[in-house]
Amino acid sequence: MVNDRKVAVVGCGFVGSSSAFALMQSGLFSEMVLIDVDRARAEGEALDIAHGVSFGNPMKIYAGDYSDVSDAAVIVVTAGAAQKPGETRLDLVNKNISIFGSIIPQIRESGFNGILLIVSNPVDVLTYAAIKMSGLPEGQVIGSGTVLDTARLKYMLGEHLDVDPRDVHAYIVGEHGDSEVAAWSSATVAGVPLSTYCELHGHYNHEESERRIADEVKNSAYEIIEKKRATYYGIAMSVRRICTAIMHDEDCVLPVSSLMVGEYGLNDLCISVPTVVGRNGVVTRVPVSLSEEENAEFQKSAAALKAIVDEAGL
Ligand code: NAI
Ligand code: LAC
Repeated sequence: MVNDRKVAVVGCGFVGSSSAFALMQSGLFSEMVLIDVDRARAEGEALDIAHGVSFGNPMKIYAGDYSDVSDAAVIVVTAGAAQKPGETRLDLVNKNISIFGSIIPQIRESGFNGILLIVSNPVDVLTYAAIKMSGLPEGQVIGSGTVLDTARLKYMLGEHLDVDPRDVHAYIVGEHGDSEVAAWSSATVAGVPLSTYCELHGHYNHEESERRIADEVKNSAYEIIEKKRATYYGIAMSVRRICTAIMHDEDCVLPVSSLMVGEYGLNDLCISVPTVVGRNGVVTRVPVSLSEEENAEFQKSAAALKAIVDEAGL
C-alpha cells in the first residue's frame, strides 16, 4: 500500500537536506524519512528541519533506513559524490553507479512501488541505472533532468526581457550537463515567438544574446561550485516542483529525464525532453519542435549519453 502523504530522501548532504527543507515547507507530505550512510547526518538534518515544523505544516520527520521506504509515495535520491571545482558531472559516473548499487537494490527489496526521483549526477545515466536496478515500471523512475537548467534559462530570460520568468516558455533539452541544448526555436513569451518579443522590446542581437544566455545557463553550476562549493537551493526548488506535479496529479509539462521509447528517434537511454508528469510519473512526452541545428545538437547529446551508458555496462 502506498501512503500518499509519505516521502523519503536518500542522501542528506547539501542537496538532500535543502530538498528536505523545501519539501517540509511544501505541505505536500505529512511524513518524511531521511536516509544517509552517515546516520548522524540524517539525524541532525531531521532534527533541524523538524524544528521548523511549528511554523509550517504538521509533519513527522525522522532519520530511518530502507525498511521505512516501502510505502513512500516518492523517494528522492540525492546520495553520491558531487563535483569538485573543475570536475564535470560525467566525471562522477563510476563512483555514483557504484553507490547506486548499494542503494537501489535495497529500495527494490523493500517492495517500494511509488515514484523514484533521481537527482544525483550524472542524472541521466543514474536514472537509467535506477530503472535497471529497481525493477520498477520505467514511467515511475524520473530524473530531475533539465528542470533546473530550464529554471535557470527562464530566470535569465526574465531578467533580460523584464518579464516574469513564469511567462517565458522555453526549454533546455538533452543531457543535464555540458551537451545540453537550448530549444530557442520553440521559445515564446506568452505565446509570442521569442525573437518577435525581443524586437518589440528593442533587443535585436538575438544570436549573440542566445549564445551568451545558453552559455551562462550551461556554466551556472561551475560558477556556483567555484564560489560556494555546491549548488543546492535551485535544485531543492526543482525537487519540490516535480513532487508537486506528482502528488497533485498535475499532468504538467516539465523537462524531466526519462527512458526514451522511440521519441525523437531515440531508444534505451534517459534524456530530458518536455514531459507530462502526473501521479503515476511519466504520462507522455511532448514532441517539442527543434530546428535542424538544435535537433543535430540534441542527437549529439543523446549519443554522448548512450556511449556512457554502454561503456558503464548498464
Ligand atoms: P554532498 O556530498 O553534500 O552529499 C552527498 C550525501 O550522500 C552525503 O551526505 C553522503 O553521506 C551521502 N551518501 C553517500 N553514499 C551514500 C549511500 N551509499 N547511501 C546513502 N547516502 C550516501 O553532495 P551534494 O552537494 O548534496 O550533491 C549530491 C548529488 O546531487 C551529487 O551527485 C551532485 O552532483 C548532484 N546534484 C544534482 C543536481 C541536479 O540538478 N540533478 C543539482 C545539484 C547537485
Ligand atoms: C547543477 C548540478 C551541479 O547545479 O548538476 O546543475
